[in-house]
Amino acid sequence: MLEISFAKSSLPKSGALVLLVAEGDTLTADMLVAADEATGGAISRAFAAAEFKGKAGSTCVILAPGAGLSRVVAVGIGKPDALTSRTAEEAGGNLVPQLGREAAATVAAGGLEAALVAAVALGAVLRAYRFDRYRTTEKPEDKPKLEKLSLLTADVAASKLAWAPLKATAAGVFLSRDLVSEPPNVLTPAEMADRCKKLESLGLKVEVLGQKELAKLGFGALLGVSMGSACEPRVVVMHWHGADVPAGKGKKAAPRPQPIAFVGKGVTFDTGGISIKPAAGMEDMKWDMAGAGTVVGLMATLAGRKAKVDVIGIVGLVENMPSGTAQRPGDVVKSYSGQTIEVLNTDAEGRLVLADVLYYCQQKYDPKFMIDLATLTGAIIVSLGHEYGGLFSNDDTLAAQLHEIGEQTGEKLWRMPLAEAYDRQLKSEIADMRNVTGRPGGAITAAAFIQRFVNGKTWAHLDIAGMAWSSKDTATIPKGATAFGVRLLDRLVAAHYEG
Ligand code: BES
Ligand code: MN
Ligand code: ZN
Repeated sequence: MLEISFAKSSLPKSGALVLLVAEGDTLTADMLVAADEATGGAISRAFAAAEFKGKAGSTCVILAPGAGLSRVVAVGIGKPDALTSRTAEEAGGNLVPQLGREAAATVAAGGLEAALVAAVALGAVLRAYRFDRYRTTEKPEDKPKLEKLSLLTADVAASKLAWAPLKATAAGVFLSRDLVSEPPNVLTPAEMADRCKKLESLGLKVEVLGQKELAKLGFGALLGVSMGSACEPRVVVMHWHGADVPAGKGKKAAPRPQPIAFVGKGVTFDTGGISIKPAAGMEDMKWDMAGAGTVVGLMATLAGRKAKVDVIGIVGLVENMPSGTAQRPGDVVKSYSGQTIEVLNTDAEGRLVLADVLYYCQQKYDPKFMIDLATLTGAIIVSLGHEYGGLFSNDDTLAAQLHEIGEQTGEKLWRMPLAEAYDRQLKSEIADMRNVTGRPGGAITAAAFIQRFVNGKTWAHLDIAGMAWSSKDTATIPKGATAFGVRLLDRLVAAHYEG
């Protein structure tokens, strides 16, 4: 992770200098003026030549401007009164690719309040992420060089304080991106469970259920998906006890509050099973565990920043393969809830995994609410593209909270309907329900299926199939695994469920 430090404003004598420039400029005027004077007007001349005015998203790079500086990078942050933590993060992200082969840089953020200075740092750290575990022959000169950012700020102590929880967030996002980026031969259900177990070092309690236990519990829907794979399934339950609980009376411990719960689809590879997918693009299905990856990254974030709340995170980990032992189209399985399911398409496997895990979650832990995340349907990509995740909920308050935090964090959600008419399409001739319907409204009928396993509990389902992986760089997300949902749900918890 990019190393972040904070210091009092003073013009650096060498190296790279980043100036955050507001549209119409005022915020960083002192450093801007100082740097411009020291370089004999090189900066103002470059701004004029490039017509750089500080618009959000714009940048201007001036190489070797004098005064010992190797480069000056100006990053527009837009109109000062429109500045939010999101735009500050984006400015931080946008500065990273402009630093070229610099190993370190000083960022002049003098006029910004501490929370926004920390947000700039978060944006830069998130953009500088890279998954390079498997590159063994890359030449040093081809590797990114940036290692350190020093942010200049009027209030060093307050900036440090604001940075601490954001650093935990970045670590959670990185964990999630690492898991999603790992190839499917490495990240099997057992391997992912082992990596969850390691989170105990953060103070989480982590329970792992294996094939035998799941069979004993009766997770028939999840186990059906796993049947064709040589890899054993796992269900991992992560507990975070962060709520302040008053001391108990006498010997009795005070009861803990109802937890909140997050549930993730963790299909470590989805071939489609016997209803096999076409070859082109099938490699993308290594990230069919992104819902689980988000839940794991979120739990690491909450533990890392010692969130004052009790949280359960559960992930259902399976591989969906075709083989002589695989589940067939037409099979009827008995879910943990007792309801039977006719599996008409073995590629609609995510809902089968979630069915058992969600039912188990509500029954065993009685949470305030459950939010599940899943790369569930191609149909949600047809509906919303790669701009919004699909939001389904049986609760208007929870849905409104999720929508609002989505706008704030940029991990945006759009609410989709749930209605009796969609549920009716799940009727089966032989079992309590079928796992697929026709193509129309495919993301909605998938959500309707899952709803049959939440047992009336307050619940939201996020279909993140279009959001888990990005084919292009954005301000704070290099192309690849996005960790969509980690920041969203961390902020949801902080805004509404802590303390
Ligand atoms: N994991 C896929 C959904 C998916 C597709 C995620 C593309 C990311 C990108 C899911 O298991 C699946 O195969 N869904 C089917 C459901 C269908 C058989 C009803 C789909 O969307 O085609
Ligand atoms: Mn599938
Ligand atoms: Zn899938």
